[in-house]
Amino acid sequence: MDSSPHAASSGQFMVGGDIPVHRLGFGAMRITGKGIWGEPADPQGARATLRALPELGVNLIDTADSYGPEVSEDLIREVLHPYRGMLIATKGGLTRHGPDVWAPLGRPEYLRQCVLMSLRRLGVERIDLWQLHRIDAKVPREEQLEVIAAMRKEGLIRHVGLSEVGVEEIEAARKHFPVATVQNLYNLADRKSEAVLEYCQAQGIGFIPWYPLAAGDLAAPGSVLSRIAQRLGASNGQVALAWLLKRSPVMLPIPGTSRVEHLRENVGAAQLELSDEDYRALEAAAR
Ligand SMILES: NC(=O)c1ccc[n+]([C@@H]2O[C@H](COP(=O)([O-])OP(=O)(O)OC[C@H]3O[C@@H](n4cnc5c(N)ncnc54)[C@H](OP(=O)(O)O)[C@@H]3O)[C@@H](O)[C@H]2O)c1
Repeated sequence: MDSSPHAASSGQFMVGGDIPVHRLGFGAMRITGKGIWGEPADPQGARATLRALPELGVNLIDTADSYGPEVSEDLIREVLHPYRGMLIATKGGLTRHGPDVWAPLGRPEYLRQCVLMSLRRLGVERIDLWQLHRIDAKVPREEQLEVIAAMRKEGLIRHVGLSEVGVEEIEAARKHFPVATVQNLYNLADRKSEAVLEYCQAQGIGFIPWYPLAAGDLAAPGSVLSRIAQRLGASNGQVALAWLLKRSPVMLPIPGTSRVEHLRENVGAAQLELSDEDYRALEAAAR
């Protein structure tokens, strides 16, 4: 693999039609403690990982107020502010009650608090991409969408994204505001969001697949994926990311790590060109 990886090799996508990012981004959920709770086990390693992002050309950073909570946004502010040329995409709408415990809360006054507190923590006057982490089934959907539309009109949010949604929900949201991105679980082995991806591609909406490195049994020793990786001199994770990048021009993978060496490896996937034949072999193995 190339010794100087750079995210520019993954190509460019215009978020919301006006913010250019390199398609291979970074997920900042893993720079927190176990269970995405509290400080990271290796705070200096987490800081070094964030510090390495600009030189590797990574300019799409995904975070959330609930990562830590607050820890991820605070570290991003400490290391990367004022974010020259970087898009810091955050989320709100999930409350935390301990390690690995997440509960949606979509009351309009709470969503407004999420945005106002992320603005303060990140040290910005407007959030370039704010994503509703989950639609709260206990609160009327229209109330959640209306307050987001209001915050966008007030200039607190530039672009809006959604997370873990279906096509019907995206269409309902688009009656209130343009949807710039959709962030759903998606990887080589888990393709339940295929219809949502197709919709996003047709509509020019960025699709942010979370848990992008997962390949499940597909990555077992001797598997199609590991044979392709071996032949290309790449890791299994790099092949999984290269497959995502080739899958769609609106695909914006955000692999997450708290280690510089893993970050470099992941960004290296941007240089990895999969042949059509290898792409189809992986597709067939996954189905
Ligand atoms: N919208 C949502 O509901 C939602 C849910 C989950 C995640 N997300 C977002 O999606 C991002 C990615 O998701 P994810 O963190 O679940 O999955 P992921 O990025 O596919 O995998 C992260 C895991 O893989 C390890 N890893 C990363 N690079 C590696 C490498 N090169 N070699 C070996 N291990 C490696 C990390 O550990 P190390 O730290 O040891 O490298 C971590 O345990 C998150 O950071 C977050 O921003 C969103």
